[in-house]
Formats: sequence, structure tokens, C-alpha cells
Amino acid sequence: MYSLLVLAAAARLSLAVPFFTPFEGLDLVNRAGAISSGCSTTGAASCHNTSSVSNLCCFEAPGGLLLQTQFWDTNPSTGPSDSWTIHGLWPDNCDTTFSQNCDPSRAYTDIAGLLTANGASSTLSFMQTHWVDINGQNEKFWEHEWSTHGTCMSTLVPSCLPSGSVRGAEAVAFFQTVVKLFQTLPTFDWLASQGIRPSTTQTFTLSTLTSALKTASGGFTPALDCSSGSLNQISWYYNLKGSIIDGTFVSINAPKAGSCPSSGIKYPPKSGAPSTTTTSGGTSPTPGGLPAKATIHALRSGSQVGGLLSAATWSTQTLATFTLSGSASSFTMTSSKGNCGVSGGAITCGSGVTLTSFSAVSSGGNLLLASGGSTAWSSDGSPSGTTVFTSFTGSSHAQGYTLVIVGS
Ligand SMILES: *[C@@H]1O[C@H](CO)[C@@H](O)[C@H](O)[C@H]1NC(C)=O
Repeated sequence: MYSLLVLAAAARLSLAVPFFTPFEGLDLVNRAGAISSGCSTTGAASCHNTSSVSNLCCFEAPGGLLLQTQFWDTNPSTGPSDSWTIHGLWPDNCDTTFSQNCDPSRAYTDIAGLLTANGASSTLSFMQTHWVDINGQNEKFWEHEWSTHGTCMSTLVPSCLPSGSVRGAEAVAFFQTVVKLFQTLPTFDWLASQGIRPSTTQTFTLSTLTSALKTASGGFTPALDCSSGSLNQISWYYNLKGSIIDGTFVSINAPKAGSCPSSGIKYPPKSGAPSTTTTSGGTSPTPGGLPAKATIHALRSGSQVGGLLSAATWSTQTLATFTLSGSASSFTMTSSKGNCGVSGGAITCGSGVTLTSFSAVSSGGNLLLASGGSTAWSSDGSPSGTTVFTSFTGSSHAQGYTLVIVGS
């Protein structure tokens, strides 16, 4: 018998270093504003109990978890060009069947307002870039995912919550958990790390894709779904120990294959105009010549030597797209990993990173990235293949370079 809770997510295209969050032990308890279930995570995983479990606040039943990572193609493109986007997370009855719409009285509306009012605005901002509807109806999409699947989770029944919890607190926990889990599943980066990148011409066999994902994920096989011969959805499966609120997701192999054919599978780039989201504008330059979306190239002795990945490490792999907000004299950056900032002299982007201000300095026809007014950057070595290096501000590390902002 398998486990199965289903987490569905959407697609990301392009590159970079995998998220380092482990699959298990997601630390959901100590986040600011997060509630705690008080449940142990040492008991049987969902779908693996050998006798009836009575406390379903701490044991997800009758389901397990499936994460579906959805690849949005060019018609239109949604989300970052280097990231899959979230579809959702839903519970399955341990046998690939599942219930839906389990409690219409909790079909909450204004999910964005609910998250903002309950200390989850960073979750909301990640959702606005990575949990996006193909028709731009993000709020409707989130409401649907919650009411259809979230209300079927036994560990999220309101009576399971700490006393005094506000109405909708369990939905806040649901969205926080789905985002956190998604951030452990860098499907785009995993494929790229195995040499599989979006292409307008190349096709792949199912076994190539599946074994690449199995290798990159540490040994787990997802289910791959195709639409018109193109890879467009990936589902990662889990059993759960404890509560959806703060339990441990235990990776398992997909209990069934997806819909992709055995060969000739396309993985098209996200091209065309990205759909606008409610948080960021389009790609037109902001006043002062700062692009709203850019890749960041490393320039050494006049030649380009790679650039920054989404975690802001220096690499020769496919570069990440960064979103820039502000003016050339002061702006902040985010990548598909999250906020970017300089801390301890190093630039990094990620979900827990505090934004810091950068400036852009025109030099020789290039727009150089500066931190603290300096355009010098350096690392302890030079990247090649999958080897990447942390980028430090200033020139005190062995390999020096400048970083050029190139609008995309
Ligand atoms: C596991 O626990 C659930 C919930 O109590 C129950 O419905 C199911 O029958 C149990 N499974 C086994 C094998 O006892």
C-alpha cells in the first residue's frame, strides 16, 4: 500500500543550483506567524499504519501527498522562465483515488487577504510568482486548490488547531506548507543538472527524463504528465508523519506512471511575453535604464565567464532571470529562489534572505551590479560544469570579476 498525499505544483524553467532544503524535517514550526500542531513526527507515516489510528489530527488519513509540478508552456508562459510553478497539494486515499471538496463551509475566499492578515505575506509573495494561474486568475486558482484539496486533509480540520486560532488559520498553514515543500523540489534545476534544458528542437525519452529526475532528487521517481507531446506536469509523492502543519514529508516513488509517451517528449522553453502578475510589472525598462528582468553575467578581462544562478552563485550553467525593483541608484532583486541580499560579504538569494539594496553603474556601455557602491566581485575559484562558487563583494577573493546586468 502506498501513501499518498498529493502536492501539485507548477513549472519552472531554467537553471541553477538545487534548493538545499532536505525533503524531511521541514521546519514549519518555528516560522514567524506559523501555528504548531503539537504532533509527533516519529510515528507511522501515512498509509503505513498497521492498525487503526484514532487521532487524525496528527495522522493524515485516508491519504498521502503528491506534489504536481506544472510546466506552463508558451501559450502563454507563466512564472519564471527557470522554474516550474505550483499546481497544488492534495491527499490521496493510499490507492491513487482521492476525495475532493470535503467541506464547502471552509471554501475561503480572499486567500491573499487571509495570508496577509496572518503573517504569511512572504508566502503570498512567493505564490504571486510561483503559484500562478494560466489565465492570470491567481486568487481563483488558490481558492480552488484550497477548497478542492486542502479541505480534505484530516490534520487541517479546525478542531485540530490550537485554541484561539483564527478562522482560516488552517488554510494559511496549508499554503505555507505547500510553498515550503515546493521550495525543496527544484525540478527545473534538477533536470538542468542532468543536462536536460528546455529546447525548441530536442525531444527526450521518458526513461531519460525519469532517470535524470531520480538521480537529481536523491532516488525518487515522480510521475510525468504530457500534453500534446510536451512535458507539462510533474508529480512528486510523499507519505506524511505528523500534521500537514509541521509534519515530515517522506519521499516515495510515484505509485503510477503519468501520461507521457515513452519517447519523443518535448520540453519547450517558456517563451513569449511572461504573463503579468499582481506583484511585478512587465519587462519594460524602469526609468534610469534599469531593466525589470535581467540575467547577470560575469565579465573578466573583457570576456564573459558565466554569471549568476538563481541562488546568486557564480556558474557557467544557464543563467537565472532576476527581477529588479527600484531605480538604478537603488534597487532590490529577487530570483526564483526568493529575495537576494548581501550578508557576510556574500550575495545570495533564497527564501530566508533579507533584501539589501544594490545600485547599477554604467561603465563601457555595460550596466554593472554594485553593492555598497563597489562594482568589484570575487570568488574562491572559477566555475566549470556543475561546480559553482559563492560571489563576494570586493576583490579580496582569488578570482575577480564584474557583474553585468543584461535586460531580458
Ligand atoms: C490506518 O488508520 C486509518 C485511520 O484510523 C484507518 O482508516 C485504516 O484502516 C488504518 N489502516 C490499517 C491497515 O489499519
